[in-house]
Amino acid sequence: MTTGRFVTFEGIDGAGKSTHLAWAEQFLKRRKIPLVVTREPGGTRLGEQLRELLLASDQPIDAETEALMMFAARRQHLVEVILPALKGGAWVLCDRFTDASYAYQGGGRGVPTRKLQVLEAWVHPKVKPDLTFLFDVSIEMARERISRIKSPDRFESQDAAFFKRVRNAYLRRMRAEPRRIVRIDGGKSISEIQAELEQHFDRLWSK
Ligand code: ADP
Ligand code: TYD
Repeated sequence: MTTGRFVTFEGIDGAGKSTHLAWAEQFLKRRKIPLVVTREPGGTRLGEQLRELLLASDQPIDAETEALMMFAARRQHLVEVILPALKGGAWVLCDRFTDASYAYQGGGRGVPTRKLQVLEAWVHPKVKPDLTFLFDVSIEMARERISRIKSPDRFESQDAAFFKRVRNAYLRRMRAEPRRIVRIDGGKSISEIQAELEQHFDRLWSK
């Protein structure tokens, strides 16, 4: 029987995922929990090459092509990294997973949900995260944070209306699956958020 847990971190760019994922990694390591930390798109050699194309390409990419590339990277990631880790009893912390495809390609780009459902059913019919943190902040706060740190990639350079659609799509998914997807108010202080995450990890640990 597997004791692994699959935990994903989601939210619009600038919501605070990476900051809190890095903290969660240290927190779980201190508890001696076997851990694999990874990300999407990416996590494998092929996946990282696809990521480079998806984030940095200056060629036009059709929205459905983009969705297919995300799921192609995901399939490789599941086979090479995620499933073996879970089977071996590790916890997998993943920076984004399929919820991001529904939010960005579905909400943001307008790919029909039913097409994304087909891809999900193809690529991972039986796999769902045990727990998903949805870091939620206003579009204004996210943009302000991003503008301070780096030059924007293909997604980060989208306009506010795009991120509004992405955020709404995430919130719809949370309402549809409230037991799996927990909203974390990314506007709270980092220490307040850490305390909340700790409670969720305790709950997951005792399951
Ligand atoms: P994401 O991975 O979601 O794009 P990051 O974790 O990189 O976002 O955070 C973007 C910026 O916002 C970073 O400079 C980070 O230090 C800062 N930040 C993240 N969470 C908070 C918070 N709760 N309070 C204040 N600043 C934050
Ligand atoms: P992210 O790792 O958050 O970027 P950064 O390192 O800049 O914080 O995610 C990369 C981008 O990929 C992000 O803008 C969202 C996008 N994305 C999708 O559009 N669909 C997907 O299925 C995934 C996994 C990511």
